Amino acid sequence: MADADSRTGARYATSEIVHWLDQLHAAHDAGLERAFLAPGLNGMPAIQVGIGEGKLLTVLLKMIGAKKVVEFGTLAGYSAIRMAQALPKDGHLWSLEFDAKHAAIARANVEAAGLGDQVTILVGPALDALPALGQLGPFDAVFVDADKGNYDRYGTWAAMVLRPGGLLLGDNAYYFGNLLEADNKDAAAMRRFHEQAKQAFDTVCIPTPDGLLLGIKK
Ligand code: SAH
Ligand code: DHB
Ligand code: MG
Repeated sequence: MADADSRTGARYATSEIVHWLDQLHAAHDAGLERAFLAPGLNGMPAIQVGIGEGKLLTVLLKMIGAKKVVEFGTLAGYSAIRMAQALPKDGHLWSLEFDAKHAAIARANVEAAGLGDQVTILVGPALDALPALGQLGPFDAVFVDADKGNYDRYGTWAAMVLRPGGLLLGDNAYYFGNLLEADNKDAAAMRRFHEQAKQAFDTVCIPTPDGLLLGIKK
């Protein structure tokens, strides 16, 4: 329950509390642990979603019975594995990744997690893949976590290809604390992502540390 302090932004989530809860609710199996550690071990930026946020992706996809999901930004496959773990045997995740090295590491991690048949990683700029990928829709969920300056375009595409009741998810929705910055074109793109999402989805911004936009398609 919120009180006057937490309502104005005070946080009761100490790192000890978050760690205890992650262990309880969101513990890693071997496949998740491998993918979570991979960025740090391979000279990639360690910018994967948090442990609890990863489990949130799993639970949200299970809630809607998602079968077909698209991800923007694979990195080492941590969030991809979190989402693929929510899918039925005949479900599928298409994950878009610009960097061929990231994609190769992610591919190995997805296979090590036993999810190779359920995940396709498409290498190259995400925008280039969208016309063909759209033909495979409608989709049940789209998770946006790639280059922030294109979030508005990714959101527009998601509104076209998601089924009614499908989910739009967007990580880094606070744009690293700079969402309201003027004269910042990536911040402006993130603001448009929020504004456009509001038109096509019933939306909320979940106050994760980075902000997570969640919308359900009208
Ligand atoms: N979703 C991942 C983290 C993604 S980090 C996880 O939580 O595990 C962002 C990723 O987006 C990086 O791997 C980066 O290479 C990729 N990326 C950046 N620009 C891109 C583009 N235009 N198209 C596709 N991927 C892109
Ligand atoms: C960056 C990207 C992310 O998706 C994230 O969650 C954190 C940082 C980045 O590009 O620095
Ligand atoms: Mg992110």
